[in-house]
Amino acid sequence: MATEFVIDGLRATIENKEILKGVNLKIRGGEVHAIMGPNGTGKSTLASAIMGHPKYEVTGGTITLNGEDVLEMEVDERARAGLFLAMQYPSEITGVTNADFLRSAINARRGEGNEISLIKFIRQMEKAMKELEMNPEFMHRYLNEGFSGGEKKRNEILQMMMLEPSIVILDEIDSGLDIDALKIVAAGVNSMRSEDRGFLIITHYQRLLNYIKPDYVHVMMQGRIVKSGGPELAERLEAEGYDWVKEELGIEDETVGQDQDEFVVPMNTIAPKFN
Ligand SMILES: Nc1ncnc2c1ncn2[C@@H]1O[C@H](COP(=O)(O)OP(=O)(O)O)[C@@H](O)[C@H]1O
Ligand SMILES: [Mg+2]
Repeated sequence: MATEFVIDGLRATIENKEILKGVNLKIRGGEVHAIMGPNGTGKSTLASAIMGHPKYEVTGGTITLNGEDVLEMEVDERARAGLFLAMQYPSEITGVTNADFLRSAINARRGEGNEISLIKFIRQMEKAMKELEMNPEFMHRYLNEGFSGGEKKRNEILQMMMLEPSIVILDEIDSGLDIDALKIVAAGVNSMRSEDRGFLIITHYQRLLNYIKPDYVHVMMQGRIVKSGGPELAERLEAEGYDWVKEELGIEDETVGQDQDEFVVPMNTIAPKFN
């Protein structure tokens, strides 16, 4: 079945503050969507809510992957169903090597009786690490422990390449990367683009989108997608910043979860429900 990931009217709270206030998004296989927006507008919260992070409570709306109810799934089931998140701030796990972690994750996805052979696993991991220009020693280092910001980001992309998810969410994968590392990471992502895989790329800056060309660009403010367009929207944001969007919406504060009691962007100005 063709990949189709649909978020409809998603609302989520953290510590009783509502952060997501009705997010709509549809990603089909083969498509790359970018979500851009200033800090504090709910972008990472959206990523966490999709993956089922226990701190975030979904209070409304639906998420489906190929018609299956994602919100009903446990975190590990979501990964097995094909959802993948490269985190903005990957965690360090002492005592678990990168290779052990990845092999467990792959085998969990493949299921019992269908585990990847050690030889095949190592060959694939070596190949992907070479593509990402990672030092082979990272195979046996503890997961993310003592990795630089850029090394953590490459390692997230390594996981993505090995796990072959059907929906890939990258949260600020460009932060902390110099231009050479950015190009390597982008090449890794581009090598994974395919008709049965969709991407959601969350980024603050347009720069990454010079290397990973999005089909759709969305702007998030106050916990909603307030504007959608094509790649030209990202270019305008790069040239002019976000102020003109705020002016169009008639809002001064684009953040969410601070002191605002209710959503102040008029309903008739927000982006159409789906592309
Ligand atoms: N773990 C958390 N605990 C408390 N508040 C949080 C947490 N995560 C996010 N928030 C709040 O949610 C709002 C949106 O944050 P976030 O989703 O990280 O925005 P973005 O990724 O767009 O910068 C912020 O006001 C932030 O303080
Ligand atoms: Mg964030």
